[in-house]
Amino acid sequence: MTTTLWRHAHLVTLAGPHGWGEIADGALLSRDGRIAWVGASADLHAALRSLPAQPAEVHDLGGALLTPGLIDCHTHLVYGGHRANEFEQLLQGASYADIARAGGGIRATVAATRAASDAALLAGAERRARALMAEGVTTIEIKSGYGLSAEHEARCLRVARQLGSRLALTVRSTALSAHALPPEYAGRPDDYISAVCAWLPGLAAQGLVDAVDAFCDNIGFSPAQTRRVFEAARALGLPVKLHAEQLSDQGGAALAAGYGALSCDHLEHLGPAGVAAMASAGSVAVLLPGAFHFLRETRLPPIAALRAAGVPMAVATDHNPGSSPTLSLLLMLHLACNLFRLTPEEALRGATVHAAQALGLGASHGALAAGRVADFVVWDADHPAELAYGFGVNPCRRVVRAGLTRHQPLSQSHPP
Ligand code: NIG
Ligand code: FE
Repeated sequence: MTTTLWRHAHLVTLAGPHGWGEIADGALLSRDGRIAWVGASADLHAALRSLPAQPAEVHDLGGALLTPGLIDCHTHLVYGGHRANEFEQLLQGASYADIARAGGGIRATVAATRAASDAALLAGAERRARALMAEGVTTIEIKSGYGLSAEHEARCLRVARQLGSRLALTVRSTALSAHALPPEYAGRPDDYISAVCAWLPGLAAQGLVDAVDAFCDNIGFSPAQTRRVFEAARALGLPVKLHAEQLSDQGGAALAAGYGALSCDHLEHLGPAGVAAMASAGSVAVLLPGAFHFLRETRLPPIAALRAAGVPMAVATDHNPGSSPTLSLLLMLHLACNLFRLTPEEALRGATVHAAQALGLGASHGALAAGRVADFVVWDADHPAELAYGFGVNPCRRVVRAGLTRHQPLSQSHPP
């Protein structure tokens, strides 16, 4: 198997518990898709001597910044249509909840998704995934939740799996069937939850589910209904996550933490009990500044309390057509700093190390260290804080996924 050497890199490994893990003049050896060695250039000769064969390829990065590949750990990438009309309503003063209660919102996208062909769903999701990838994203999570029937949820999860095999991208798929009440179950949320619990084993048996999520809120499902979904997930041995405390405090984060949740996401209304429960369960707080910005929310997630309790914080796009129609994870890093007051280091850690943890990939992805998957990005930047500092800027020069260069010049990343 061939070894590749990446030398003269300004490494930002994020390998330790704190700090950038910077090596001003560093090198990295990749082999069989994994990082074989990473360290200071001064130690490279000794590392090379211990190799069975010398590197077949050598890339001189000329001092460019090299970070772990970015991870977008919360997206709703597979859907039909768009909701630009709701943006107009939001601007006129309607709230997200008003629009949902009037029959728009998630249910509008469910209708458009059900009406879309498999090919159209795949084409839309692939276009969006490629936009994320152009900014150095090497791993994404994709949720279902716009199908809301066994057949349509499976269709959406299959599209997510297809993206993972078509693109140089690691895809984790999450079943979010408890996202909204489909019209055929109007007034019967408990019956719908029974249906979800009944079809989950089938989705899992088809290999379509890496985790299970729900939307626990006043316009979503109750804690009792969420618990039933979590019990079904537990019976299948699947990890859980939760859209928690986005619009109101339902105690969802504490409920999810009780099931050892990988993450609780949104969290603008999270209280002290939720913070403590997440800290003791080791659940990641996935912060979604895109939805906060788009819905012009004013209540901030309790960042200082999460930080003080040692809850790992991730940052994701929450890409979806209703509350966060963004395809820029770098912009989310900027917003996480400017709106939520994360430090640039916390923001980058949030889209690498902690995002990996939120997907159950904490041991294999998210940092530059020997043995981890060789996913990394070369940037036109002098300092890692630049990744959060710019907005509407894409300094991504080159992306390496599992040791292979995905693209060099950005303009060639799109196939004809
Ligand atoms: O994460 N809050 C629930 N789910 C999505 C929005 C889905 C939609 O509006 O289509 C979210 O913000
Ligand atoms: Fe979401």
